[in-house]
Order: sequence, then structure tokens, then C-alpha cells
Amino acid sequence: MALNGKRVLLIIGGGIAAYKSLELIREITKRGGSVRAILTKAGAEFVTSLSVASLSGEKVFTDLFSLTDEAEMGHIELSRSADLVVVAPATADILAKMAQGLANDLASTALLATDKRVLVAPAMNVRMWQHAATQRNLATLKADGILFVGPDDGAMACGEFGPGRMAEPVAIADAIEAAFAPVSRVLEGRHVLVTSGPTHEPIDPVRYIANRSSGKQGHAIAAAAARAGAKVTLVSGPVSIPHPVGVTVISVETADEMLRAVQHALPADIAVFCAAVADWRVAAQSGDKLKKSEAGPPALSLTPNPDILSTIGHLSANRPSLIVGFAAETSNVIDYARGKLDKKACDLIVANDVGGDSGIMGGDMNTVHIVSKDAVDSWPKLSKTEVAERLIALLATKFAKASR
Ligand code: C5P
Repeated sequence: MALNGKRVLLIIGGGIAAYKSLELIREITKRGGSVRAILTKAGAEFVTSLSVASLSGEKVFTDLFSLTDEAEMGHIELSRSADLVVVAPATADILAKMAQGLANDLASTALLATDKRVLVAPAMNVRMWQHAATQRNLATLKADGILFVGPDDGAMACGEFGPGRMAEPVAIADAIEAAFAPVSRVLEGRHVLVTSGPTHEPIDPVRYIANRSSGKQGHAIAAAAARAGAKVTLVSGPVSIPHPVGVTVISVETADEMLRAVQHALPADIAVFCAAVADWRVAAQSGDKLKKSEAGPPALSLTPNPDILSTIGHLSANRPSLIVGFAAETSNVIDYARGKLDKKACDLIVANDVGGDSGIMGGDMNTVHIVSKDAVDSWPKLSKTEVAERLIALLATKFAKASR
């Protein structure tokens, strides 16, 4: 069983999703792991200590200042005797405490005292999730190396709709397994270059042309390459997501800047061009803000941007051994992808259909086809993180074969 002998310290926060934590305990034990739980005061409003104890088969800890508990097992020991700490549901309050390093109850004290990895499954109202303060805390926690699973999108108990639902117990258990999976550092010693996000092409000092790329997929690829041991340079257009851990980030705005940053970052062993680069820029950018006038709207004359992927693909010296392009299309996805392989001189195209209501642009899921000269491999709908993991594993294998 995948979690054989693994000890999980489960912190159950106060939210309606706490009922799913009972199911999570069953899921972990079904997979061979054991669970010791801390139930916060707010958590105890939603599930009882008795249910948690019955399912986990262990005493449940609730109080920082319990003399009996401290005599039996101090909070420091409690936080360290586990192999992994899981917070589910992780409320906005717990995330804020974690980000600030507060320690004013047993859960927050254990989280501050632990020397183990921490996986959190956020659950809260959509507005609370989207609030700038929560997003700030999230960025801090990601930079601290805290692992996340979810939240999912969907209808919420409070009647609203959107991101904030706690991930399903099976998905949390999968994330627990993934946290224990030995990281194979298949790209140790390699340099991986990734472009990500959109580009902004200025019209005048205040306006620009852009697209809906969030940078989620490119950033996930950079993060996966770093986890696989590579030295990673991420050249990113303007995005609002946090920088991945362990990656050198070069922030750029325009396609021209992106090309220069990419050229400067060479040599690289593998290059993944995931950025949604604007195809055109305004030919004559105005130094002053364009004004409304009687003569009607200004005519914008566009000029092509450099094709970064194609430029690097056609290099005779310093060309990365393995070059991957992306193709976001709204129809004939695979045909267009095949055409791009040749035209842009790349080794692999990751093609996806971004048409209609696919929700790929800006979303957390992706359905891709891996197109090479002689094959098409269609992957199931996966999270962008899973697409990144699989792609990096594939590239590591191809790279090893090519350099044999
Ligand atoms: O031609 P299209 O824009 O669909 O090609 C997409 C692929 O080419 C992506 O890998 C993208 O990062 C790359 N590209 C680029 N520079 C451009 C346009 C696209 O690197 N100017």
C-alpha cells in the first residue's frame, strides 16, 4: 500500500468541509498510513472529537494548555513525530497564522514547531479565497515551500460559486502520496529554460495589447524541472501568480525583451516555450497618451514580433538539445501542431484546444496532446501541475536517449 507505515498529523480546521476530513482519515488508513489528529476549537464545532478518534484509532489533541496532553506528549513532540503534517480544511485564519508565524493555539503552535513538510487543503468562501490578504498569505506560504492541494471550483455550502471548495479526500490522499514519492532528480546538472505568461505590447504609456495567459502552466513546468534537480531559468511575462521555488526568474514585458532574455540565458539543455507571446506589436508606440479627438479613434498599425521559439529552434550554434513549443488552438489542434514542429524547428509540440468553454486559459486543468514528428500522444484531462510533472519526466527520458 502506497502509504505503508507513514504517519500523518492531520490538523482539522473549522469549516463545513471538516466532514470530508473524516473521509480523508479513512482514505489515509485504507492506503496503509496512520493518522493522529489535532482538532481546532472551530473544527470541533463541525466534527466531534469522538468521530475523529474512532476513525483514526488515536487520541485526538485539542488544547495547547492541557496538562495531561503535555505530560503524555508535548506539542513539539506531537508536531515532529509525524512524517507529514496535513491541514484539512485549512481556513483563511489558519493560512494567515501560518504566513505570519503566529502560535496561539495547539494547531498553529504545532505548525510553527514542526520540522516536517506541510500540505494544506484550503477551504473557504470564494470571496475570502480571492481576497488580497489571503492571496498574499498564499504567496508567502508557497515561497516557504508549503505544499497545496486545491481548492476546487464549484458550488459552495454558503450558496456562492467559485474556487474555495476543499479538494476531495481522494485528491488530498493522492497529494499525500505525491509528497512521499521519492523525487527522482532526473535532470540534476542540466539547465532548463522555460518561457511563461503573456507579453504586454505597449500602445502608449498607459495602454497595451495582451492576452489571457495566466502563466500557470509555464510556471508549473519550471517548478517541476526544479524538483527534478535542474537549474531552471524562467523568463516570465507579466503574471499575478507567485514565482516557483528554486527557480531563477527573469521578468519581462514585451516579446522583444523576452527574446533578449532567452538569448542571454543560453546555453540550455532543454527549452520549453510555453509563453503566449503576442504575435504583433504596435509599429509606432506613442510617447504620449493617445487622446480622444474629433477625428475619431486612432488607427493602430501593427508589426510582427520576433518568433522566439522559431529563432531558437533555427540556431546553428547554442541550440538547446531538446526544444518544446506549445500550440494553443481553437480548431484542428493536431494538424496545426504538426505544421509548427517543422516551421519552428522544435522537437515536440504540446498542443491544446483553448476554444469555447475549455476553461484552459487561466484555469487549473489542461488537456494536451504531445505531438512529435511521428506520433501523437493524447493525455487525459490533468491538473497543470500533473501535466508539468509528466512533461518533465518525458523530456528527461528523451534527453537521456538523445545524449547517449
Ligand atoms: O504560432 P503560435 O503562436 O501558435 O506558436 C506557439 C508557440 O510558439 C509557443 O510555444 C510560443 O511560446 C511560441 N512563440 C514564441 N514567439 C512568438 C510566438 C510564439 O516563442 N512570437
